[in-house]
Amino acid sequence: MSHLLHSLSLSLLLLLFPFFFFISIAAQSNDTNFPGCFAYKCANTTISYPFWRLDGEPATQYCGYEGFGINCDNYGGTPEIPIAYLGRDSYYAPSISYESKRIVLVDYDVSPVVPPVDCPRVRHDIDLGNLPFNFWGQNVNLSFHFNCTGVPSFAHEIPCLSTPTNKSCVHSLTFEPENFDWTQYSCDEEVLTTVLDVFNVTRPMEKEFRRALRQGFELKWGRTEDCEKCEVSGGRCGYNRNTREDMCFCSGGKTTTGHCNGTFTKD
Ligand SMILES: *[C@@H]1O[C@H](CO)[C@@H](O)[C@H](O)[C@H]1NC(C)=O
Ligand SMILES: *[C@@H]1O[C@H](CO)[C@@H](O)[C@H](O)[C@H]1NC(C)=O
Ligand SMILES: *[C@@H]1O[C@H](CO)[C@@H](O)[C@H](O)[C@H]1NC(C)=O
Ligand SMILES: *[C@@H]1O[C@H](CO)[C@@H](O)[C@H](O)[C@H]1NC(C)=O
Ligand SMILES: *[C@@H]1O[C@H](CO)[C@@H](O)[C@H](O)[C@H]1NC(C)=O
Ligand SMILES: *[C@@H]1O[C@H](CO)[C@@H](O)[C@H](O)[C@H]1NC(C)=O
Ligand SMILES: *[C@@H]1O[C@H](CO)[C@@H](O)[C@H](O)[C@H]1NC(C)=O
Repeated sequence: MSHLLHSLSLSLLLLLFPFFFFISIAAQSNDTNFPGCFAYKCANTTISYPFWRLDGEPATQYCGYEGFGINCDNYGGTPEIPIAYLGRDSYYAPSISYESKRIVLVDYDVSPVVPPVDCPRVRHDIDLGNLPFNFWGQNVNLSFHFNCTGVPSFAHEIPCLSTPTNKSCVHSLTFEPENFDWTQYSCDEEVLTTVLDVFNVTRPMEKEFRRALRQGFELKWGRTEDCEKCEVSGGRCGYNRNTREDMCFCSGGKTTTGHCNGTFTKD
């Protein structure tokens, strides 16, 4: 019996395989069902729904989530996601995985793209505001301190950012003793950031943290709240800048401010 089930599920898998293949291809080209939603290639990253090209979509509307616009015009044509609510913080998006809804981001200040930095210095914390992103994967939270009078034992000095009297250091927050008193080191700034855990503990931390910064961090995205009705009705969410209204792009090319006529199933 279980043998039969086994071969049944195997043949089902084989049957479905071309279907999955088709879906993953469709995610990377323009979908004729949604003529208002474009797919673009930006350096090595494919930008498609729910991301959209800030410098590409028709100026009056976009098909995608608010805050998910990606600029392909700056930083040597690399995909830049300006997390706009949060001042001018810009992140390089080297990869987006549409099936698993994950995006890797690298802070441009420390990225390997433009300009290549020998001595990366983070300038701001990561603030995702109210965007529907969550940290994903095996992360490490790094804490940087600049212009300190010394370096505590659990932290690592960053030689290229230090002088004999002004020290800069980095450490993983996990190793900071609770209620540690930093005031004794009179640092003039602290910056917190998150990176993927790519550390090889047998190598010098001071080199490893640079490598980690260049690889960035990973986020998983969810749906924006306002978008639920549209998506579960088979549509794609967007926004009309002229009317300042949410849009729903339906299969077949119709758009509406509400939802499409597809089946309303919760997923
Ligand atoms: C999708 O269509 C847009 C606009 O016509 C075009 O610029 C873009 O290159 C197309 N993308 C792909 C992946 O074919
Ligand atoms: C794109 O991929 C190619 C081949 O993997 C690589 O050589 C190139 O550096 C990548 N470009 C960017 C901007 O990451
Ligand atoms: C890193 O910090 C974020 C945000 O404060 C937190 O959600 C996450 O759990 C932390 N990760 C680790 C591994 O401590
Ligand atoms: C050292 O740090 C102090 C502030 O903590 C700053 O006023 C001073 O200019 C710094 N000196 C150098 C050489 O960077
Ligand atoms: C230390 O402080 C000086 C003076 O304010 C500043 O120019 C320098 O960039 C700071 N160093 C670091 C690593 O932040
Ligand atoms: C970690 O670094 C050591 C020494 O450089 C190297 O031999 C080892 O292969 C590295 N381990 C991993 C998992 O990369
Ligand atoms: C939904 O169906 C109604 C009735 O058939 C039609 O009038 C309307 O245009 C449809 N809306 C969309 C977004 O397709």
